[in-house]
Amino acid sequence: MNKTKVLGLVFVLALVPAGAFAQAQGDHPTYANEVSRIIQDNCQICHQPGQIGPMSFTSYEEVRPWAPLIQLKVRQREMPPYQYDTDKGIQDLKDDWRMSQEDIDTIVAWVEAGSPLGNPEMLPPQKDFPEVGEWRLASEYGAPDHIIKSSPWDVPANGQDLWWEPEVDAGLTESRCIKAVETLPSSAAHGSTHHANSHFVVQNDEGEWVRGDRLSEFAFGKLGEKVPEGACRKVPANSKVGWSIHYYPDGNAVPNDQVSVGIWYFDEEDEFVEEDSFDQDLRAYNLSGGGDFLIEPHGKLMTQGFHSFDHPVRLDSWQPHLHLRGVAMSMEIFDPTTGQRELVSMASDWNAGWNHSHTYEDGFQPLVPANSTIILTAWYDNTADNPHNPDPDQWVGAGQRTTDEMSHAWIAVTHLDDEGYEKLLAEQKERAQRNVAGRGGDE
Ligand code: HEC
Repeated sequence: MNKTKVLGLVFVLALVPAGAFAQAQGDHPTYANEVSRIIQDNCQICHQPGQIGPMSFTSYEEVRPWAPLIQLKVRQREMPPYQYDTDKGIQDLKDDWRMSQEDIDTIVAWVEAGSPLGNPEMLPPQKDFPEVGEWRLASEYGAPDHIIKSSPWDVPANGQDLWWEPEVDAGLTESRCIKAVETLPSSAAHGSTHHANSHFVVQNDEGEWVRGDRLSEFAFGKLGEKVPEGACRKVPANSKVGWSIHYYPDGNAVPNDQVSVGIWYFDEEDEFVEEDSFDQDLRAYNLSGGGDFLIEPHGKLMTQGFHSFDHPVRLDSWQPHLHLRGVAMSMEIFDPTTGQRELVSMASDWNAGWNHSHTYEDGFQPLVPANSTIILTAWYDNTADNPHNPDPDQWVGAGQRTTDEMSHAWIAVTHLDDEGYEKLLAEQKERAQRNVAGRGGDE
């Protein structure tokens, strides 16, 4: 055999990745090679003992029996649970749980091939995850700078929806800008804590305690909220915190339950200068005037809400909120000076079991000129075609209970002035141009 030829063959083998080599042989993905890594990165945070996923996916033996259902849920993008359209609106989001189409295709092909293990020596080492009841943002920011707890309350095992609205002394002595905030239900009550909203209670000029801005909003499945640099969501000094917690008993009695809010502040290390920042707030924006609407049995409905500001704003996050008959929500921006209407976000496969604050990646947040209109649209389906509908024979009205409907979106808004708006707009345009140039291969 000629020596050059042998060398050539060795070279080719070294360059071909393991997966591609298997494909070249007419083979398929295996658990050991590809699927274990995808499950680790996308599923195990919830699907492991003690976490909220109903089954554990930490080994081949655990995953294998579920393969057909995994294929279905992943192909339909129901798992990981993150309802945000992949083909409409802004796609650059922080903490985005959606899987790449490539990973989805790999799982589908693996199940079609009979879900083989492959070579066990190729299995990755087990991955570490936060314990139940640990702050999830801690992996990025360390322990929170400040923790506030609701006062204790006994959650019964069974019964109707319950609301607990205590006011607590929060120990907030100085006025500071929030970098991130996370609401953490207790591990015992994580299944029954449906909502836990918190707001500041501040003293007005007359010395009376009145409701202030929102601290945080939490609904089942939500991670937390991050405030982009250059924006200040402020903690007022010497404020108290009011809670509105909605428990929905899930079979487990939890005596003395407490929900916690963790706050991380901007500091010098972030090179954050409060004087150079714009105020940000998080508020609920209605889609139905006063919130009054009725869906007839076997009927459908659409609600809309229109909101505008007399100054330019930046939208930092969008979180639709609907209940069981809700099926979709969108957010558009209408600019009356150009007549243009732009779709910025859409969740067309809404699932009330999961709530996400879809937070736009820095530099990708929609910028809204003064007097433009933010159009929020929601759709409801009270027919038997809606798989989440508990009873299509009922009239459904707006209300607080899980079986009533809701129609609002939480939006974090940074309030700009003309100069700030022009600056951010110029940065976005410049980046867009760079990207076009980059794609042309000029770099
Ligand atoms: C954020 C937590 C979370 C993540 C991430 C997650 N799951 Fe789930 N999963 C759940 C919960 C909670 C349920 C049960 C409630 C439900 O179906 O929504 C569930 C249910 C399931 C079910 C059963 C559905 C049924 O009808 O019985 C399958 C299968 C599943 N998940 C697969 C996956 C796979 C595969 C991934 C990763 C690609 C994943 N999940 C990621 C939390 C999660």
